[in-house]
Order: sequence, then structure tokens, then C-alpha cells
Amino acid sequence: MMISNQRFSPLLFLLFSFCTVFGSDRPWQSVGPVTQVKKLSNGVELQAGKAAIRVTATSDSIIRVRVAPGGVFPADRSWAILPEALPEAPRVNVVDSPRAVEFSIASGAVRVQKSPLHVQFLDVAGKLLESDARPIAFSGAAFRIWKQLPTDEHFYGLGDKAGPIDRRNETFTMWNTDMYGWQESTDPLYKDIPFFLTMRKGISYGVFLDNAYRSSFDFGRGERDIYSFGAEGGELNYYFFFGPEPKKVLQSYTALVGHVPLPPLWTLGFQQSRYSYFPESRVREIANTFRERNIPADVIYLDIDYQKDYAPFTIDTGKFPNFQGMIRDLGQQGFKVILITDLHIKKQTGYKPYDEGLAQDNFVKAADGSVFVGKVWPGDSVFPDFTLERVRRWWGTLYRDFLDMGVGGFWNDMNEPAVFERADKTMPLDNRHRTDWGVTLPHTAVHNVFGMENARATYEGLLRLHPNERPFVLTRAAYAGAQRYAASWTGDNTSSWNHLRMMTPNLLNLGLSGYPLVGADIGGFAGSPPPDLLTRWIELGVFTPIYRDHTTKGTADQEPWVHGPEHEAIRRRYIELRYRLLPYIYTGVEQTTRTGIPLMRPVFLEYPQDERFYTEQDTAFLDEYLFGRDLLIAPRVTEMLDPLQINIPPGSWYDYWTGEKVQGGSVKLTPALDSLPVFVRGGAIIPQQPL
Ligand code: GLC
Repeated sequence: MMISNQRFSPLLFLLFSFCTVFGSDRPWQSVGPVTQVKKLSNGVELQAGKAAIRVTATSDSIIRVRVAPGGVFPADRSWAILPEALPEAPRVNVVDSPRAVEFSIASGAVRVQKSPLHVQFLDVAGKLLESDARPIAFSGAAFRIWKQLPTDEHFYGLGDKAGPIDRRNETFTMWNTDMYGWQESTDPLYKDIPFFLTMRKGISYGVFLDNAYRSSFDFGRGERDIYSFGAEGGELNYYFFFGPEPKKVLQSYTALVGHVPLPPLWTLGFQQSRYSYFPESRVREIANTFRERNIPADVIYLDIDYQKDYAPFTIDTGKFPNFQGMIRDLGQQGFKVILITDLHIKKQTGYKPYDEGLAQDNFVKAADGSVFVGKVWPGDSVFPDFTLERVRRWWGTLYRDFLDMGVGGFWNDMNEPAVFERADKTMPLDNRHRTDWGVTLPHTAVHNVFGMENARATYEGLLRLHPNERPFVLTRAAYAGAQRYAASWTGDNTSSWNHLRMMTPNLLNLGLSGYPLVGADIGGFAGSPPPDLLTRWIELGVFTPIYRDHTTKGTADQEPWVHGPEHEAIRRRYIELRYRLLPYIYTGVEQTTRTGIPLMRPVFLEYPQDERFYTEQDTAFLDEYLFGRDLLIAPRVTEMLDPLQINIPPGSWYDYWTGEKVQGGSVKLTPALDSLPVFVRGGAIIPQQPL
């Protein structure tokens, strides 16, 4: 347990600019009381002993807090925030009184209590929304922020995390990690987004810790009435977003870190993948089978086995004797091909990407200045330093041949970055990255953004090569802002009912983290799903943004037609439903590109006043969600025989299948295997197209 620093007298605070917080896992030095106040046009700069604290308004609903323990703020740099997202800051009127200094913006107010130094946020009526529970503290390069935790506050976001939708009573680490076979309690996973939003009595606020170092969040697990967050290095720099509506919080956050670009329509169709379809004849067979069986599909993925010795941007002509012809023929059948192109470059003289990259000094360096070599699929590999603009440009040129052949999109995997045969699964923390900022940073500062910069290099490269086509990139690793460049999926899940169930909270939280274009491997990656599970997964996948069936090597076939005619008929009907709904889906995604509000959204995003949809007790077994504003989805995601208890949101709702009006605030259903309960909001227009 921690001993509160309030046991020290104010005099001691004045004598020492910091004081020690005992009993934690590390000796924290707390920032002392405010000793000086300097008013700024858009906020205030405070002195607290040696530390400087800058609290400023960046818009009429966002407050930024920066703390420099030594009094000097570092250069203002962000991987996530778009420079154009912070136009002119509002002017504020700072009120300085003996106990506190405060100012208001249109959506609320911020107050800094001077001793002990607590930052507090208030709503427009002056009611406390969020308050420091103890002063901010530092320990070497690390910092931590502690906030009061009301018993009925709920937390969402943080990107790619397993487990229940509500983050309360859990701790999380932000460190992009390759995690084959992850489970409910596995943390961290592939994507880390240090943004969360809250819900309490219909009111929401959000916090974005703009820091890409390894960070951690504790929502009341370590201490029951305190939540906290901090990072192991980098700047203490966070943004507070006022609601009161959760939609407004998400809109403000996504305006800051950017929106997903509109994807090509075909990427919203059904996608079929496996690790790996080969040889060429098998790929053609898969395409033909979809067409023969009249199962709509738009995409076939080629995983790493199409490459020569797993070297990206090569083709194994033994397995694919007429690669270009295959792309063309599949195109004539209405298929786009998406190719995997991992970021690691095989270390082999005579292989063009290696020779060129080496000659141009494009690869990440080890601490001793030599090119870092790590083992991945191709064996010894080197890694482009994606934090440099010139390297990103070069990487983009590697796509020319594939793009000119008519390849539809690209898949950037293993970009956490994953490195084999190392306990930490990634590159050494003291590897060096040269950046566009003119400073060389250790891997520890860059790790969480490396995958995003890889996806960025691909996206921007494709745009440069074919400026009139919307690129499609799929990335596994991401950080705040990566949605600007790529869609994503939840990595190596498992063919189990529990993984089907975990898909919904995971994808919902990605959407609430500003990452809306996401999906999970339908049917599960590790293992072979039993027939009912694959059928249920294909049904539910209709109502997820990226609809891709994928599985690993050595598993049973997982295409929709396996498991006999009865299952095939159900699966076909649902994939057809996806296609009928494409106008609704495409419209919804287009709205996301402007608002940041995801297609797949928790019910509370639309109905924040209805506490049934976010109070802990009820959400433990609540798998339902909204797909767009107007469709309520209530999936069967377990093998249990109990009927589904479906909470119906306020207003009139109708059964999508029967058109019957739902009576009352909830319904109980036991859906048969071929039935996924879907309800439509009264008054909605659901645009659909003929098959
Ligand atoms: C990783 C990916 C998986 C892919 C495999 C081979 O495990 O997560 O989707 O199939 O690598 O490329």
C-alpha cells in the first residue's frame, strides 16, 4: 500500500521540490505544491519547485497537461497527433486564487489545486468529473498519474485487449507483442492505443496519454479507489476530452489522431485466407469453388508461401509458375488478391531489397552501429528503419511490380516487430532508430509505433504509385493514429467458442480507441473449428467491419463449404446477407471516415443514458452491440443452452427477419443454429442491394 504524501507538512513540500511516495513498486518522487503561476493566453504554466506544469486548452473540449520534472519541456513531438488537428487554441481567462488556479472552456473547466498539486476536471455545472488522487510523480525516466476512482466508473478503449469490454478492475501494459494463441488474460497483444473513455451515470470523458514508450494502466486493480497510468520514459503529456456524450469524446479524440480513409468497396465483401494457399492450382481451385457454389466473395489472400524462401517481394515460381496470369484470371472472376509483404528483409546478397536497402543505409542499427540482424520467417533478416521518411519512400517503391500486376491490397504482418528466438519476441531495446526529427532514439521509444510507421510506408507508397486508387493495407501492429493507414485484425486467435465470444468486446474496444476498420480471423486461426462454431462465426462475421476467414498451417479446411450441405447453406445465406447489406455498411464506413464513430459500436455509444448497457453486473453476459446506428446484433457466442436475454434499447425496435415489433425492454430467445437475432431501430432506413 502507498503512504499518502499528505502526511508531510506543507513546509517540507516547499523545502523539497519532490517528495518520496513509499511502498510502491518503485520510489516515486512526487511533484510538490505550486510555487508560481504564469498565465498564458490559452492556459497556465505552473512552477512546482523544479518542475514545470503546463495546462492548456487545445480546443473548446480538450485540455492538455504536460509536466517537465526538471522545468524544461522537450520539443513538442507526437507520432499520433496530426499537426493540422490543433488549429488555433481558444483564449481562456485564468483565475488564480490562494488555493487553486482554474479556467473554463466551452465544455468544462480545469482546476489545479495548489497544495497538494492535484489536476481536476469539472463539467459545465462545476461538478467534479475527474481528479488526481495524489500528485504526479517521477521515478528516473518513468512517471505516474493517480486519479480518484468512483465505484461506478467504467473504462473502455486501450486498443487490442482481450477479456470483457469494461476495463475496470484490470491492469494493462502497452507494448506491441506477437502473441500466437493468446487467451482471455493475455496482455499485451499486438496493438496498443493509450486512449480510454469512461462511462458513469450517462456521462463520459476521455484521456489520451500521448506517449509511445511502454506504458501501463491500472483501473482499480492495485488500489480499489484509485486508477492510474504512466510510462517508463518519454514525456508526461496527456489530453483530457470532455463529453458529456461518449460519441463527442470519441469524435474529439479521432479528430486529433485522424480518421480511417474510405476503403475500396470490395474490401467490405467476404475475404478468404489461409496460411497458405499454394500452389497456384490450389488458389485457382479455391476461386473456382466459390464461383461454382455461388458463395459471394471478393478477396483471396496469399500468405508467406507464395514467396521464394519467405523473402518479401519475391515469387516462388516453382509453386506459382504463372503468377501474373493467375492475378489476371482471378480478376476476371471478380477476385482481388491481397499479398502478404512482411517488413523483415531477408539478409541475402543478390536479393534486391537487401542490396538496395544496404546501399542506401536503410536498416535499423544495433547499439554498436552495425545493421541489426534478427531471425524471422526468411531466417536472418534486417529491418527497414520506418521512422525515416526517406526509408518509407524507398519501401513504397518495392510495391511497384505487384501493383502493376493488378494485386488488390497488401498485408503487413509481424510488424510489432516480431523477432524469433528471443525471449522478448522483439528487437533489443537499445537498437537505434534514426528519425525525421533529427534525433536517434532507442527502440524502447519507438517500439510501439514501428508497426504503424511500416503500415504508413506501405499506404503512402501505394498512393504515390497509383494516386487514383484507394489503397488497402492490413496491419497487425498499431498505435494511436495507425487507422490513417491500415485496417487491422486481432492476430492469432483460436478456433474455440471462447474466442468467438471475445471477438465482440475486442473489436468494440478497438472502435472505441479510434480504430474502426477491424476484424478477427473468422473460424479461428489456431486449430480447426467444429462445424457449428464455424457456422456461428460466419454468421456473426457479417456484422464485423473486416470479414475474413483465416486459419494456420496444418489445420482442416475452413472455407464456407466444408462440413456438408446443411452448414454450407446457412453460411451462404449469411454471406449473401453481408452483400445485401453492403450499401448500409459502405455508408456507415463512409460516416466513420468523417466522424470516427465506428460501424461496430457498443449500445451505450448511442444510448448513454440507459445504464443497462454499461453497468458491470449487466455487461458480464451482454454480447449484444449495434452495427451502425440502426441494427442491434445479439449473437449466440457460447455452447451453453440457456436462452439469450436480449436488452432492447429505448424506442421501437423490430425483428429484422420477421418484421415483428419487439414488445418490452428485453426479449428471451433461443436461436437455432441458422438464426442470428438482429433487430432494426424503428424509423430507420436500411439501404440494401439485390444479391
Ligand atoms: C502470423 C500471422 C498469421 C499469418 C502467419 C504466417 O502468425 O498472424 O495471420 O498467417 O503469421 O504469415
